[in-house]
Amino acid sequence: MASNNTFLVNAPSLDIMTEFKCSSKPHKRIIFIGPPGSGKGTQSLIIKEKYGLCHLATGDILRAVVAAKTPLGIKIKENMEKGKVGPDDLVVEIMNEAMKKPSCENGFILDGFPRTLAQAQKLDEILEKQRTKIDKVLDFAIDDSILEERITGRWIHASSGRTYHTKFAPPKVHGVDDVTGEPLIQRKDDTAEVLKLRLEVFHRQTEPVIEYYKKKGVVAKIPAENPPNEVTAEVLKVLLS
Ligand code: AP5
Repeated sequence: MASNNTFLVNAPSLDIMTEFKCSSKPHKRIIFIGPPGSGKGTQSLIIKEKYGLCHLATGDILRAVVAAKTPLGIKIKENMEKGKVGPDDLVVEIMNEAMKKPSCENGFILDGFPRTLAQAQKLDEILEKQRTKIDKVLDFAIDDSILEERITGRWIHASSGRTYHTKFAPPKVHGVDDVTGEPLIQRKDDTAEVLKLRLEVFHRQTEPVIEYYKKKGVVAKIPAENPPNEVTAEVLKVLLS
């Protein structure tokens, strides 16, 4: 999921950031990989703001396609609501186009992509043609048992993607977005039942992607169970290493 301005506003993480020199050059082509609710979207927004990288979240992009209600959108909607992964070719094509955006020239954070081995291999082919490669893959490691509370407590401001949590990042006023005052919603796939399917898909289809990048020597493990500001510190440490 894309963003969490609540963390940015309240952020102890901003103090941590000042410990790192602004002139330091971070890795530029980054993948955030981890199970649903591990905090990929939350950390993406913080790192994106800090280094001017673009944030490409496949979940957000696919939700926009669904909202357009085209025949393709209707097909993708069924997949997403059941926690299944969408067609590889389509997702790769969408992400290839997205990476060409001028805002991605300085580098990008891929959040939720690649999610299968086929997607990872196709991404490599695309980058090889551009004579570039993935610099770092951050593996958001967390025990499954923690994720139900995170997922079922998440609330979203649909048009901005701002994310809240009833316990860990509550809005100032219950049920409404801090910035616009508009109502918050819950994602249809953010139920305990669909989470089980999403986790099963993660372990079966996405964990092999982590192994794929381990063989290339670019994976760093992030202890994602920690509080958000500590996770940010770990992420920064890796990106500036
Ligand atoms: P997507 O939207 O990518 O969902 P996801 O990968 O399951 O990840 P989430 O957005 O659920 O979690 P997150 O890790 O970003 O957690 P967040 O930071 O929000 O994908 C949805 C669907 O789209 C897929 O199921 C699939 O159908 C399809 N799809 C996506 N990519 C695809 C692809 N490549 N190919 C094919 N299909 C694809 O945090 C969660 C909550 O916890 C928030 O409320 C937050 O406030 C809170 N929180 C965050 N960090 C902490 C912390 N450290 N401590 C306490 N609370 C925290």
